[in-house]
Amino acid sequence: MTAPAEIQHAVALLRRGGLVAFPTETVYGLGADADNLQAVESIFRVKGRPSTHPLIVHLGSGEDVKDWAVSVPDEAHLLMSIYWPGPLTLILKTTQRVLRAVTGGQDTVGLRVPDHKVALAMLREFRGGVAAPSANRFGRVSPTCADHVRQDLGADVDFVLDGGACAVGLESTIVDFSSGEPVILRPGGVTREALQETLRQTVTVRTGGSLRAPGLLESHYAPRAAVVLVDAAESSARTEALRAEGKQVVLLLAGDTAPDRLYASLRRADETGAEVIVVPLPEESGMGLAVADRLRKAAGRRS
Ligand code: TXA
Ligand code: MG
Repeated sequence: MTAPAEIQHAVALLRRGGLVAFPTETVYGLGADADNLQAVESIFRVKGRPSTHPLIVHLGSGEDVKDWAVSVPDEAHLLMSIYWPGPLTLILKTTQRVLRAVTGGQDTVGLRVPDHKVALAMLREFRGGVAAPSANRFGRVSPTCADHVRQDLGADVDFVLDGGACAVGLESTIVDFSSGEPVILRPGGVTREALQETLRQTVTVRTGGSLRAPGLLESHYAPRAAVVLVDAAESSARTEALRAEGKQVVLLLAGDTAPDRLYASLRRADETGAEVIVVPLPEESGMGLAVADRLRKAAGRRS
């Protein structure tokens, strides 16, 4: 497990404007001091991410929200009290404090308290907010263990805190409260069903709706190989047909697309040199909604 000395080292680097990759329950983050403009800019540079694409600010406690957001609706407070620490990001109106580089120029900010011992220890010791996207190059598959981060970012990151494999394995659910009513912008670790039960209301899902919504680009979360989505019943036939065309094909099984295994499965398929990954689409309820969302984006047209 991570030693206290490593947490101290990570915090010292953050205070100096460094980049620290850290584990969360969802995926690894590429973190920098959210109040340090140069540090935040270096995240965009290393990730190769457009500057209009906003970052989530990670906090050590829900009590810190008042420093980052204003006009927080009661429903948002309710979700924080139940799901934080946890895989839920809330989009709220920003305070003056928040750098526009973090929000992509918008007057809203994404906030979350991750449910991971190492992340919480780092955040509580640091005390400020840590802006962090997933610790992969832009558009690629998110990292779910420290080795993935090292393979993707190498020497571009100052330090990788190793907290083992991510328990959830898919990014946080993003709920936008900026218009008053809750809207899911990205399905993730907290299911729509759970949110609806907590809020006792229908929560709409709107992925790819506005310019800055997450994962808007057609190809995102993508392995190198082409991803072909199929109904489970036709997966063998499609695989055989592609092989008959002379293609190098990897077929994923239902267990490979479990939320905590999906990204590692896509990476492993890439490592075999496959040209095509055939993937049976899961049922789109519960965590299946988030799995299907990522698979659709992985299968999207490449630029
Ligand atoms: O689970 C997660 O959320 C992980 C871990 C590291 O916390 N982080 C993550 O960050 O997935 P990233 O940057 O890969 O995805 C964050 C998404 C982006 O697509 C971004 O557009 C959206 O959140 N986002 C952030 N702030 C936003 C805002 N103010 N309005 C709308 N979308 C926002
Ligand atoms: Mg990402």
